Amino acid sequence: MTQDELKQKVAEAALEYVKGYSILGIGTGSTTRLFIDCLADIKNNIEGTVSSSNASTEQLKKLGIPVLELNDVGTLDVYVDGADEINPNKQLIKGGGAALTREKIIAGASRKFICIADDTKCVDVLGKFPLPVEVIPMARSFVARELVKLGGQPVWRENCVTDNGGQILDVWNLSIVNPPELEQVINNIPGVITVGIFAMRPADIVLVGGADGVRRIG
Ligand code: A5P
Repeated sequence: MTQDELKQKVAEAALEYVKGYSILGIGTGSTTRLFIDCLADIKNNIEGTVSSSNASTEQLKKLGIPVLELNDVGTLDVYVDGADEINPNKQLIKGGGAALTREKIIAGASRKFICIADDTKCVDVLGKFPLPVEVIPMARSFVARELVKLGGQPVWRENCVTDNGGQILDVWNLSIVNPPELEQVINNIPGVITVGIFAMRPADIVLVGGADGVRRIG
């Protein structure tokens, strides 16, 4: 099976996990894009969604699925999103699609976070995928120097402006053995908007698509 076929399988499997909920949190990325397409089949049961990016919002609206403001809906029952890396503790690296800030907000505002991914995303230790860090533009060089002190090699993702007007540094060569600790350390650098480690609020359930089918962790 190709990676895209695995993503399709896991996107379809996630549908079972959201039935019965009327307001859904929606992530960003190619796996979530497939999940959103699946939602079209049950759209009459969906009162609304809270979206983590302009791209997902546009797709949802095209399908006729309402998009609501997080401020208007309070705590969400369930949030579905992909990931760039997943460790056995359901801690994640996210932000490959530059939507990490709104993704982290919605994950934090949701009772249940269901992560959907193909099995190429599973690792023992996070950090092979370059860690995205969203920064305030005027702080970019300062934050980059601080990240070098932590042992990383930050690379500015040029020509990328996030939905919040931020910029992205992709940090190579970090072996993230203690994800919650590094999440807090990087969060504390002035100028950092969001770090793409999702460990203090990890996924609750991970659905992993592999050649043998969809495996559930958690
Ligand atoms: C978006 O900013 C990311 O966090 C995505 O969730 C992540 O990059 C996974 O994307 P794919 O589903 O495209 O692999």
